[in-house]
Amino acid sequence: MNTILVGAQWGDEGKGKIIDVLTGEVDVVVRCQGGNNAGHTVEVGKEKFVLQLIPSGILWPKKTCVIGNGVVIDMVALVGEIQGLEKRGVKTKGRLLLSETAHLVFPYHKLLDEAREQRKGKIGTTKRGIGPAYSDKVARVGLRLGDILKPALFKEKLKERIATNNGVLKAFGGKTVDFAKTHAEYEAAAKILRPYLANTVVWLHESLAKKKKMLFEGAQGTFLDIDFGTYPYVTSSNTTAGGASTGSGIPPHRMDRVVGCMKAYTTRVGEGALPTESDELGDLFHGMGREFGANTRRPRRCGWFDAVATGYAQLVNGFDELAVTNLDGLDSLSEIKVCVAYEVRGKRLKYPPVDFRDWDACKPVYRTFKGWKSDTSKIRSYKKLPLRAREYLKALADLTGAPLKIVSVGAQRDATLFV
Ligand code: IMP
Repeated sequence: MNTILVGAQWGDEGKGKIIDVLTGEVDVVVRCQGGNNAGHTVEVGKEKFVLQLIPSGILWPKKTCVIGNGVVIDMVALVGEIQGLEKRGVKTKGRLLLSETAHLVFPYHKLLDEAREQRKGKIGTTKRGIGPAYSDKVARVGLRLGDILKPALFKEKLKERIATNNGVLKAFGGKTVDFAKTHAEYEAAAKILRPYLANTVVWLHESLAKKKKMLFEGAQGTFLDIDFGTYPYVTSSNTTAGGASTGSGIPPHRMDRVVGCMKAYTTRVGEGALPTESDELGDLFHGMGREFGANTRRPRRCGWFDAVATGYAQLVNGFDELAVTNLDGLDSLSEIKVCVAYEVRGKRLKYPPVDFRDWDACKPVYRTFKGWKSDTSKIRSYKKLPLRAREYLKALADLTGAPLKIVSVGAQRDATLFV
């Protein structure tokens, strides 16, 4: 069984936790897109891990993790992550494979990202250089991880890229990059990373032939997808199910199941439309100390569950199963709203508009549910959830159009209820 897990909303759906749970069933975990803009939080016992590039499967001693060709890799950040894990007793050697064709993120990508974010019309990016790195990939001028196997060529290409990008950075009026310093940093990182490189396409197919089971873990969420999201307020990769194939080299028909992960409400970081945004919910969650970015610590914007959005996510991803997280966040509410349609200039929409400017004009049409007003965070069986909570969950799944399989009521592994 090969499973794709993706976010059905705007990212931060609690995928790290669900991935960790699903990893128990597989042999190999594959990351297919995005970079260290992602931040997956996993709690194991009393320990908390925040993973940015390395799949959370690394926390399971017998699993192999792959960073596929669709990912953009900041080598220095990756070395930091590997060393941080090793220091805490998590072995990575022989268990982590890096695609030679994954593109690299350099300091000039980060500076360009920062410079663009200072201009009018900013996206609210993580400033990790993700967009500029993917731009270079598509423009066919990027450096790939495999280039570190040819140090002289790597040096020459990097020198040229830094010279060109320094010209652009100067035009922005900002800082430039020092070649010698950057090359030394990346050469030191290359020394550590070289043993991890592999032809991951071939390795994955050989593993499939040996009947190994795989989990393709998505980063970010459907509405941050470069094609299907609220463009231009999106990330620069395909965060939806198709990205698992193009980002790994495993064809679509070898995938058996798509699991959609969504929160029992909605959150978003960065700019862009969020039709169900509610200050009341934001205040509630932030007051509880929840909904701050795992990566940048930015407070997330919060809103009611948006079934118009998740219904569209169902079209694009074809979810076979749903995992709903953070149910416990709603425990204290007497009434809970769910957006079932958008209204734009007197017209009712069942699916979101294509143009982001029309998203801003969308008024949510709500259905109101009675809250269960009790603590669900200690519950360890789906049947023991209050009836109103189960009714609410059933409505989310029906409105989205896929069966509910997993509910999460807390960060711990055992706070996971199977329907
Ligand atoms: P970028 O991916 O850093 O270019 O940021 C583009 C948009 O995607 C911004 O709105 C970010 O806040 C958002 N974004 C990127 N990665 C994540 C994530 O892991 N969780 C939630 N939002 C993200």
